[in-house]
Amino acid sequence: MTNINTANRTTSGFSRIPDQQVFDYDSTFGANHYGRVKLVVRQAKGVWLTDLDDNKYLDCLAAYSAANQGHSHPRIAQALVDALQNNHASVISNVVYTDTRVLFLKKLCELVPQIGPRFGNNGNKGLCKNGGVESVETAIKMARYYGWKKKGIEDGKQEIIVFNNNFHGRMITVVSFSSSSRYRDGFGPLTPGFVSVEYGDIDAVEKAVTKNTCGILVEPMQGEGGMYQPPAGFLKGLRELSDKHDLFLIFDEIQVGLGRTGKMFCFEHENVIPDGLILGKALSGGLVPLSAFVTNSEMMDLAFKPGSDGSTFGGYPLACVAGNTALDVITDENLAARSEQMGQVLKKKIEDIAARSSHVKEVRGRGLFIGIEVKNGDAMAYCHKLLDLGMLANDSHGHTIRISPPLIIDENDVDYIAERIEKVLVD
Ligand SMILES: Cc1ncc(COP(=O)(O)O)c(C=O)c1O
Repeated sequence: MTNINTANRTTSGFSRIPDQQVFDYDSTFGANHYGRVKLVVRQAKGVWLTDLDDNKYLDCLAAYSAANQGHSHPRIAQALVDALQNNHASVISNVVYTDTRVLFLKKLCELVPQIGPRFGNNGNKGLCKNGGVESVETAIKMARYYGWKKKGIEDGKQEIIVFNNNFHGRMITVVSFSSSSRYRDGFGPLTPGFVSVEYGDIDAVEKAVTKNTCGILVEPMQGEGGMYQPPAGFLKGLRELSDKHDLFLIFDEIQVGLGRTGKMFCFEHENVIPDGLILGKALSGGLVPLSAFVTNSEMMDLAFKPGSDGSTFGGYPLACVAGNTALDVITDENLAARSEQMGQVLKKKIEDIAARSSHVKEVRGRGLFIGIEVKNGDAMAYCHKLLDLGMLANDSHGHTIRISPPLIIDENDVDYIAERIEKVLVD
């Protein structure tokens, strides 16, 4: 850890209760559903997290891509303060319209390339929710409805092809098709209608198609599953199969979209356009929850009518104010290009370190989405050491150190990260 200026404390934080009291309250009053590292964050600004003693940690997790724009980005924070002070932030019943929601949707739908062009050049429409998993469920509803209405599949028999080691969130339907038994055991009855095949294996996908298959749900790169990029041509293969069998192809870009992998959208690396796109996390700049499902406007109109979907807070004013500015920040600050540029420099440095290390099995990734797979399979042991050196990282799938800092990092931050990785990986 890097102790800066302890004589002249700058951290105020929400409270000054001691860290030990935070740990005690957490174990007394909180669900034990996360294995947490022993860091109590009191402030988050830009790329830095600060504890009670003003120790600073470079955030190499960025809340799993939710803080792509950096923590408490001044423009986004100011937009929220203005909205609160001017009384246009409060949740409003969905029986009326708000300008905040439609202005956000217009910006989002115009930013995303035409989704599902096979359905016509109709423009995009978006449907807002809160956490990412809610928009995954929206997308699943869309694919099932498509199968029923357009393909004549009997309602209740629709199947969606998903992939081993997927991660799409933690609600019942979504964990029902997780490969991880930790996510599922004891939570049955699980939701049927999903067939899981090997990620990257296009033949396995084709074999899994039946007369009841209505769609495919895939992460263009797997995040929680171990930071994997599918083999070149896999996404294209999914597109071809979807066209051949008329399947609704959905990309979950909740973690890898919005600049994370060096393009605005991860699917742009292979120029493959899905029929539905799911975004979340950085969509609102990490200050309030906001997610969205985006599809061809004809498809949105097909599946969703008054009553068939809804959410009290989905697309509420405060979230949409954040969303409007969060998207502006990504484009105005060229964060996708920055991710590509800084990602190349950082990955090269990490590869050089890996070449001198006896601990590293593989370095992989795109943009600022970099995984370091370790030979002993215990990535967290290295992450604890990194924390002691002033850098927060965690594991992906146990075996891989995930390096995914805010996209605003500069060369000095890259050097800071590389120096610490070197210290823990080179004996
Ligand atoms: C690819 C992907 N989909 C869905 C989710 C779920 O999002 P949330 O935790 O906001 O519900 C995540 C979260 O990490 C994710 O990485």
